[in-house]
Amino acid sequence: MRKFVIASGALALLAGAPAHAASDPGERAFSYCFSCHSVEANQTEILSGPNLNGIIGRPIASKAGFEYTPELKAFGQGKAWTEALILEWITNPRMMVPGTRMERPPGPRAPAERTALIEYLKKAH
Ligand code: HEC
Repeated sequence: MRKFVIASGALALLAGAPAHAASDPGERAFSYCFSCHSVEANQTEILSGPNLNGIIGRPIASKAGFEYTPELKAFGQGKAWTEALILEWITNPRMMVPGTRMERPPGPRAPAERTALIEYLKKAH
């Protein structure tokens, strides 16, 4: 199973989780995120990133109970996540917000995969 993920060594390092042989393009795109994030409204597992349910339109760094970096909180003052901002964020979080704890995920990179990811996040409410 691991081999599936190892296409990108960096992802394997980041994920350290079993590969997800998802058939849905959105789920497949989210495989770059799911080792640290859940989109479930009733998340039970403890992950290193904040819950992403309803993330599009949600004020930045606002999930109660998650300890964001001061850098992301400062950046997010008065702003909410848009589709464009999320795409910029996943391209290079530390370029957008120096000091953030989120590292650059190795994907998704292809435009179609990025669109699939946004569609997937939109559905998660
Ligand atoms: C290795 C773990 C990790 C991976 C993989 C990861 N993230 Fe994150 N993410 C984090 C952490 C940690 C934070 C909190 C950053 C901070 O406080 O500076 C975060 C924050 C975020 C936020 C801000 C949430 C909020 O409440 O404001 C979004 C959006 C996000 N990540 C999206 C993604 C997406 C989409 C992917 C996949 C393409 C992804 N992340 C992959 C760890 C990760």
